Amino acid sequence: MMEQMPLSAEVIRSLQPYDIRVMLALERLMRRFEWVPIDDLKSTTHFNESELEYRLGRLMARDLVRFDAVPYRGYALIFNGLDSLALHSLSNKGTLQALGCLIGEGKESRVYEGLGLAPVAIKLHHVGQRSFHSVRLNRDYLPERTHCPWIFASRLSAEREYEALTQLHGAVPVPAPIAIERHGVVMDLIGGTTLNRAQLDDPESVLDRIFEYVRAAYRHGVIHNDLSEFNVMIDEDRVVLIDWPQWVEPAHPNSERIVRNDVSNVLAFFTRKYRVGRDLDEVVESVIR
Ligand SMILES: Nc1ncnc2c1ncn2[C@@H]1O[C@H](COP(=O)(O)OP(=O)(O)OP(=O)(O)O)[C@@H](O)[C@H]1O
Ligand SMILES: [Mg+2]
Repeated sequence: MMEQMPLSAEVIRSLQPYDIRVMLALERLMRRFEWVPIDDLKSTTHFNESELEYRLGRLMARDLVRFDAVPYRGYALIFNGLDSLALHSLSNKGTLQALGCLIGEGKESRVYEGLGLAPVAIKLHHVGQRSFHSVRLNRDYLPERTHCPWIFASRLSAEREYEALTQLHGAVPVPAPIAIERHGVVMDLIGGTTLNRAQLDDPESVLDRIFEYVRAAYRHGVIHNDLSEFNVMIDEDRVVLIDWPQWVEPAHPNSERIVRNDVSNVLAFFTRKYRVGRDLDEVVESVIR
């Protein structure tokens, strides 16, 4: 997958109903094709050739759709196109009233600020072709033959994250889950900043609270599996754990090693930056017993 410029609110606003119709048709047809032939698009949208070409031109100019002549001539939605469909649905349903700016861009996601009933974060999962293999390793139930594995894997990742947030919300400080739409998760917007960028007055108490939350999550059936200073947010007095798509259950055959890894990432950071530490074995033991 080639690099794409992040989608902007301006691009979303500039989309017309016919543009959306073409993207919806592409999305549907991509269950059968990696690249959708123009004739199939024509029969699905009922647009004539010149209308269709005009719409495809607009979508390609906005970097939502790509054309390729190899292995055969066809069109495909790319992540930006998929993102606009998810955002469009959310705004149709009233979940999203306004899209704000991009607040996070990770290896496997884009996070936007938005306004629903309250300020929200919209995390669009982008599990691309590069990272697809690791997803496949973790999830043995991925079908071997799917035309667009990246769409499938991104939706799965969003579903997994939504599941964890739903399971933990109320018991562990995580962003409250609000909605899931395609590969997008809408959740509470957390203020402040990530732990790696915060300047803590009382690092010991934050460290202990993180482990308390790791313990509570474990008791609620969830091990983070990607915990680090980048996935903890510090919002004044609040400590919030984010970024849950990789979670596993305590029954996972490697659960102890995974807990150990989460705990040791956090410990390494606190030792490096604040010169405070805890005994790794003791913390791990306190989580899993
Ligand atoms: N609910 C939220 N409220 C405020 N900011 C958020 C929220 N969720 C995510 N962010 C911001 O977006 C950034 C990326 O989000 P997150 O860590 O969930 O995904 P990621 O790091 O891209 O995932 P991966 O670890 O797969 O690369 C975070 O570092 C944080 O700055
Ligand atoms: Mg992260």
